[in-house]
Amino acid sequence: MKKIFISCALPYANGPCHLGHLRSTYIPADIYARYNRMVGNDVLLVSASDEHGTPIAVKADNEGKTPMEIATRYHNIIANDLKSCDISFDNFSRTTDKIHYEISQNFFLDLYNKDLIYEKEIQQLYCEDCKKFLPDRYVEGICNHCKSEGARGDHCESCGRHLDAVDLIEPQCLTCGATPVIKKSNHYFFRLSSFQEAIEEYINSNEDMPANVRNYAKNWLKEGLKDWILSRDMDWGIPIPLEGVTGKIIYVWGEAFLGYISSASQWSKHTGEKWEDYWKDETIHFIGKDIIYHHAIFWTSFLKAYGCKLPTNIIAGEYLSLEGRKMSTSKGWVIWVEDFLNSYDCDLLRYYLTVNAPLNKDTDFSWDDFGRRVNDELADVLGNFLHRTFTFTQKFFDSAIPEYKNLNDDDMKFYGQIQDIPDNVGGLISEFKFREGLVQIIKIAKEGNKYFNDQEPWKAIKEDPERAANCLYLCNELSKTIAILLKPYIPQTSEKILNIMNLAIDPNWDDSKVSLEIGHNINKPEPLFKKIEDETIEEEKEKLYKNLETEEKQESGEDTMSDIITIDDFGKMDIRIGNILEAEAIDGSKKLLKLKIDVKEKEIQVVAGVAEKYSPEDLINKKVAVLVNLKPAKLFGVKSEGMILATSDSVALLSPDECEIGERIR
Ligand code: MSP
Ligand code: ZN
Repeated sequence: MKKIFISCALPYANGPCHLGHLRSTYIPADIYARYNRMVGNDVLLVSASDEHGTPIAVKADNEGKTPMEIATRYHNIIANDLKSCDISFDNFSRTTDKIHYEISQNFFLDLYNKDLIYEKEIQQLYCEDCKKFLPDRYVEGICNHCKSEGARGDHCESCGRHLDAVDLIEPQCLTCGATPVIKKSNHYFFRLSSFQEAIEEYINSNEDMPANVRNYAKNWLKEGLKDWILSRDMDWGIPIPLEGVTGKIIYVWGEAFLGYISSASQWSKHTGEKWEDYWKDETIHFIGKDIIYHHAIFWTSFLKAYGCKLPTNIIAGEYLSLEGRKMSTSKGWVIWVEDFLNSYDCDLLRYYLTVNAPLNKDTDFSWDDFGRRVNDELADVLGNFLHRTFTFTQKFFDSAIPEYKNLNDDDMKFYGQIQDIPDNVGGLISEFKFREGLVQIIKIAKEGNKYFNDQEPWKAIKEDPERAANCLYLCNELSKTIAILLKPYIPQTSEKILNIMNLAIDPNWDDSKVSLEIGHNINKPEPLFKKIEDETIEEEKEKLYKNLETEEKQESGEDTMSDIITIDDFGKMDIRIGNILEAEAIDGSKKLLKLKIDVKEKEIQVVAGVAEKYSPEDLINKKVAVLVNLKPAKLFGVKSEGMILATSDSVALLSPDECEIGERIR
């Protein structure tokens, strides 16, 4: 028996869980954890929500909430999403927990005292309009490595590289759109470069490590490791624990990993057991492929620096797309776990996301394929085999497991397959080949159906009852075996089958090899899987595509504004010649003036961004062109009912001196 420390990547507390999260990370980890518990290993499965970082701070800004409010909202939603998928965590905590702060700060100090973290003055992007440094998600630009647009200050989604914001090409403040300037600031760096050899050695010698993790890591190692900036100039996060240092926090990736440990310590506190014993025996991290770099390189170097045993393995699930397109939460091209589970059992999801491709391959969620697999594989193959076995047992053997005698060749062959399957599937799961294991189970259920058909027990029961009894004995044997082997994959279904079979619902893996007792009574059968109607699948697709259409319409609407318009579009704009009657400054704004303008039919109030160029006195009695049918809005609390026309860069007013007040421009 061993102790196994299993972790799942910490989900960011800035949104609910979607099917991608489950596919790469949480379902595989749970299958592995459940299997290991069943074979008698002692498992500690932990994770936590990742609650720092700029996306949460930005979201909080946008919603007028505190980051803590945002983090708490999503922590609760995520914890609930994962629970409703039966992810069997021993502990799921938060990186805003006190223990996490303590552990992260101590970790930082330990490395600092060993001179593995050092201080250096560097150049940082600073937005003069927003008066703040622009780390990570506060800035966007073109990736200096792969030249893709939309790269963030710390990460490029296209090439998967970790970036330094000052290297971005054409950077832009995401809050206000201004071009940031470069300013100096003191920061803390981790000597990642000193760990090049240690990590090479770790990656090269770890032959059980999946190929995707090794290959990615090797490529990065080839580029050479550079020291890694570990601090940020912002408030939301864990303060740098050094005297005299203020306004600086530990970069979210410099503390999030420690969530594995702080969650485990919290568990230790509750249970009185030592999490360290688990870490020592075997440690497996489950992650998605986008964060291989972080785990294979940063985290392992961190552990080495601290003097900790490195993880036994890192399992990286590749990406899930949706109906052949990349998922996008902003475009509504996503399926949220909660929405899905409102209509379908979680076992259908666990089944589908596991069976549709090996973990180390990208894969796609398609509603058609989902419907097909549920109907063909779960209902027609698995459900049908189990149901015909149980109903036949009930009807012809009075619900008791029949006695078997004189097995023929067919029976012996089938029996052999039943006896082999637990070790087959177990072997595959322990090698992280979850899909392959599940496919074996469906395959043997198919064999079961074939055997049942070939033996024709419905005929044999009259002509040769011994044959029928042998057949049903073996089919019940297989049903029991399948029920137990399904437990790590689809625990609720496993429990349902065991209930029908009147067996303990908490079996060990090896119980699948224990023969059923002759005469054991089973309970009343009930169908296990409902088929999904084609119509339902069509409705789901429609719902999804509707999201996309609304989004695309909005997007293209914006595009046409800068493109060609029709004469009707122009005709909608009511632009008049007006005369400025009054002008005054607006409290708290350097750019805006409040204007009262006579357009003949009426007087309107306009807030205009011209204060940097014109003083109020300049404007009195000046003729201007005004858009008068603009939807009213408030700026700095002051109502604005129109817009005066000016050039965009130099803010020069169009001055139509020769025109009459009130004339319309067409
Ligand atoms: N907070 C970091 C992890 C820190 S671990 C110390 C993070 N969070 S996340 O919410 O973005 O992702 C959670 C997990 O889901 C990660 O393992 C990530 O790789 C995975 N996935 C996120 N989007 C995914 C898909 N579209 N498809 C498959 N896996 C995906 O990363
Ligand atoms: Zn700004």
